[in-house]
Amino acid sequence: MDHFEDKVAIVTGAASGIGKALCEELGQNRALVVAADLNVEGARRVASCITENGGRAIAMHVDVTKAADVQRLVDETISQHNRLELMFNNAGATICGEVRDLELTHWKRMIDVNLWGVIHGTQAAYRVMVKQGDGHIVNTASLDGLMPMPMATPYTAAKHAVVGLSTTLRLEAAALGVRVSVACPGAVQTGVLDTAMYVGIKREEAIEEMLSAFKMMEATDCARAILRGVARNKAIILDGAVHNLFFWWLYRICPSLYNRLMQMGVSEIRKHRIEP
Ligand code: NAI
Repeated sequence: MDHFEDKVAIVTGAASGIGKALCEELGQNRALVVAADLNVEGARRVASCITENGGRAIAMHVDVTKAADVQRLVDETISQHNRLELMFNNAGATICGEVRDLELTHWKRMIDVNLWGVIHGTQAAYRVMVKQGDGHIVNTASLDGLMPMPMATPYTAAKHAVVGLSTTLRLEAAALGVRVSVACPGAVQTGVLDTAMYVGIKREEAIEEMLSAFKMMEATDCARAILRGVARNKAIILDGAVHNLFFWWLYRICPSLYNRLMQMGVSEIRKHRIEP
């Protein structure tokens, strides 16, 4: 895709999963990639792999929950390259558990990473892009940002907020030359189930239930779908997998049936609840 050639792109959450795949695809499409992650060693490995294959990439440490960290990431990118065309606010984390078992710290962690992380990245990149009169902010939400996903309520709440933030800013930003998209993938095979917080639920059993309920797509296919959507400047980018689109259509066409299916899912996962 020529669209990405010579563009400076920051990707957060670059060390693993969708972020890693986005970096690799951007590298192959001759973008200049800034791979940023809390796991800086992982980000370095991704950047090295891109440069070994003839692309251009550097790695940087970032904790997206810290505004100053994200600002520094953007400032250093500008001081090195004088511009920033693409900001992928992709870092995220998830949780599995019932609200009755959660502490406020669980909510805070989900909101900090999934919502504040995106706000920090958006705020820092948007000012630069408005000055340039050009740029594209791409926030990774989830299909869970478009419809209810029980047993992951704080995650779902944060992702709904990311969708609202992105679709609204898009309207404000358009006349200033800045594009805003939100990616809403369904289930993707990444490190997310391993690193998720499991609260009041048996970890292995919960993972097994989720793997049997959701067909996982490859991270590379997801990244390609996101980049196609970015090149077309789509407002909401879905991953294109038929099984994921099915849930989205079902929720819009017949929400009561979708809700019933989700409630059946709750009963299944609840079987693995650890009684307090
Ligand atoms: P992953 O766990 O494979 O990768 C997440 C990356 O984010 C990791 O490298 C991790 O170190 C980094 N990260 C976590 N907290 C961070 C922080 N505070 N600062 C900087 N980096 C941090 O997960 P995956 O699946 O690739 O997730 C990427 C995004 O896609 C997330 O926003 C997630 O919510 C979203 N998503 C994932 C889906 C899936 O099924 N895997 C489905 C829909 C959305």
